[in-house]
Amino acid sequence: MLKHSNKSLKPWHRSHKCPVPVLIVLLILIIVVLMLSFHNNGKQPSSSIGVMTQSSDPLVQFHPTIEFRNGTDVIWQIPDSPKAVLFLAHGCNGQAVNFWDRSPSCPDCVGLPEERLIVLHSLNRKFAVLTISSAGKCWSFGKESLIVKGIIQWWIEKNKLEKLPLVALGASSGGYFVSVLATNLRFSSVTLMIAEGLFHKIDIMKDYPPTLFVHMPKDQARKQRIAENMEILRNKGIDVAEVKCMEFPLSPYFLADRIPGVDKNISAKLFGLLRDKGFINVNGYMRNDGRATNWKKVLSESNIIFPDWDIFVHHIQEELNLAFAYHEMTSLQSEQIFNWFESHMT
Ligand SMILES: *[C@@H]1O[C@H](CO)[C@@H](O)[C@H](O)[C@H]1NC(C)=O
Ligand SMILES: *[C@@H]1O[C@H](CO)[C@@H](O)[C@H](O)[C@H]1NC(C)=O
Repeated sequence: MLKHSNKSLKPWHRSHKCPVPVLIVLLILIIVVLMLSFHNNGKQPSSSIGVMTQSSDPLVQFHPTIEFRNGTDVIWQIPDSPKAVLFLAHGCNGQAVNFWDRSPSCPDCVGLPEERLIVLHSLNRKFAVLTISSAGKCWSFGKESLIVKGIIQWWIEKNKLEKLPLVALGASSGGYFVSVLATNLRFSSVTLMIAEGLFHKIDIMKDYPPTLFVHMPKDQARKQRIAENMEILRNKGIDVAEVKCMEFPLSPYFLADRIPGVDKNISAKLFGLLRDKGFINVNGYMRNDGRATNWKKVLSESNIIFPDWDIFVHHIQEELNLAFAYHEMTSLQSEQIFNWFESHMT
């Protein structure tokens, strides 16, 4: 902003013979311009925020726009001066509303902890974010990819973002979907999360986008398929890379740090309960996938009170799955993912 206003001041400096009243008017103008610049600067999201939780990024706020198109929900947000467009594809049982916090502009939004952090990270890095719900429980790979291609193109045109690089991130079923979509829509690069892609079913052309695999090697079978697909892509001359997401130990305030609305006290109590009931080991690691254990029953029988049980159980489960690191959406590798996108934009 300041740079911009300096630029517009330059011509004034060049004229040396200004009468005094004109100089005064100019001075007032300069002051107003500077004040406006500072005012706007205060509002602008900082782009240098590292690890983000709900409390450390107060400058980026959710104010998504929602539209119903081609029978599905389309939800997006465009930051000031966007530098790229990111299409996000959820996994099975996911929906566009999972990526956005509940707010007056999106009363039905869910804001799952990892999904919302990916969006906040995107907006911080000046990526416009576009989310679309799949028609069924999971994505399908025929007509649906043409419909979604149409929605993305319509949206880009409507918002006049044609000049920006387009990238995509798909998780699980969304990862397969993005791998197919990339054959009929031009992405500058893509990220497939916890998904090996459908590379045995598609024609991989020379211009297939650079592909980053973000995966959880604890899922050994998938790890193997990803290694095979990376080889296939590499042999076609496509730039590929992988980011491995490993399990990590829980700590008393972990859930409070990552789930808005879970305070430290509840977080610590929950951690204690999981430890006492043997869901986590002495070092804090999950013994099993959150989906496979009856921690919800144990929690419901405990004296821990949540503001909204249905929502929080879903959010907590995601974080427990993340710590177990077998198959879950993850925002912990956002830095690497966005570095990948940004290094493949020309
Ligand atoms: C999506 O909706 C638009 C506007 O209603 C329509 O023009 C377009 O044909 C639809 N696309 C598909 C693939 O049905
Ligand atoms: C939670 O808060 C209650 C009452 O304020 C306190 O007695 C308890 O020790 C706290 N528990 C934890 C784990 O911090």
